[in-house]
Amino acid sequence: QVADKRHFRHFMLKEIHEQPETAELWVARHLPPDLSSDEPVALPLDHSFYADLERIQILACGTSRHAALVGAYLLEQFAGIPTSVFYASEFRYAPPPLAPHTLTIGVTQSGETADTLAALTMDAQRRQAHGEPAFAPRQLGVTNRPESSLTRQVPYILDIGAGIEVGVAATKTFLGQLLAFYGLALAFAARRRQRSLSEIASLKDELRALPDQLRSLVELHDQRCEVLANRFADTQDVIFLGRGINYPIALEGALKLKEISYIHAEGYPAGEMKHGPIALLDARVPVVSIAMPGVVFEKVLSNAQEAKARDAKLIGVAPECPDTALFDALLPVPEVSEWISPLLTLVPIQLLSYHIAAHRGLDVDQPRNLAKSVTVE
Ligand code: G6P
Repeated sequence: QVADKRHFRHFMLKEIHEQPETAELWVARHLPPDLSSDEPVALPLDHSFYADLERIQILACGTSRHAALVGAYLLEQFAGIPTSVFYASEFRYAPPPLAPHTLTIGVTQSGETADTLAALTMDAQRRQAHGEPAFAPRQLGVTNRPESSLTRQVPYILDIGAGIEVGVAATKTFLGQLLAFYGLALAFAARRRQRSLSEIASLKDELRALPDQLRSLVELHDQRCEVLANRFADTQDVIFLGRGINYPIALEGALKLKEISYIHAEGYPAGEMKHGPIALLDARVPVVSIAMPGVVFEKVLSNAQEAKARDAKLIGVAPECPDTALFDALLPVPEVSEWISPLLTLVPIQLLSYHIAAHRGLDVDQPRNLAKSVTVE
């Protein structure tokens, strides 16, 4: 595969624009029109993968860990399985006590990240050493590189099929990883009868509508964020706030901005802002607030109001409605079910970071000190 920027200024921008296609391919593979009615989603996983499963632990680094956090929200809240997420580099040296009937998922787009591979090896070794079948290693890899070292190491693989990603900052592979977790959440929720048939069907309908929604969102926000980026010319700190299923998108927004624009940014669960970051706020610190209708909508808006009261400039990633009139600038996202919302809120977050960095004339695709995959500890 030869990488070609086409008419885009950077690979990262091209890859952001490829996300509707990533979603289209995922839908075609995993929610094909001929899917039988008793099968929630088509996944390459057999019965023994699902049997007697009581908990899940997910190991990952960087952006992949943020996808894992959304995944854990879905697996717990939609599918009802206790799920924990670990930094692979921490898990290696301080794993939790071994628990039976556990699935370990390693998420790595490159399939080569040393910390993630070593954490998976350590998990498999100590499970084998335990000897009892209930503790046997059951591992799944989620990757964009099915030919990678990860695949040789774990028995089950979900290939996210996002195509080659050149930009060091992950974008379309993040979307692909998220979609892998939507697939797993559908499969587990249906098998465990955690969700009604109509809840499952409605999530599937929303996923099928995703490619078209992404197409219009990418076009819209490419323009809006380019204009908005001018306002960040002298910015030194940015706070990203989100809650619930969109909290990891706030983390990802902060990570993207740090990686490519070198602006200090923090992602915080909005309710926690009062316990520290609020001290940083003044008119020079923009706050990006992800406020999507759902369990915590009013709460996020009131957290944004608190930031506004400290003169912070508020940028909302939220639907256009009277409730969101408090934002100084709005990056509008259509009102969808809360379950699906991270798949849309990620678009303005990526494009805002991209345009801020591009506006500063930085090397967006090859940021300083970073590598596409980190194969050393
Ligand atoms: C590097 C990249 C990040 C990426 C992380 C994990 O640090 O700069 O963008 O998220 O590795 O990569 P992986 O291939 O394991 O997903």
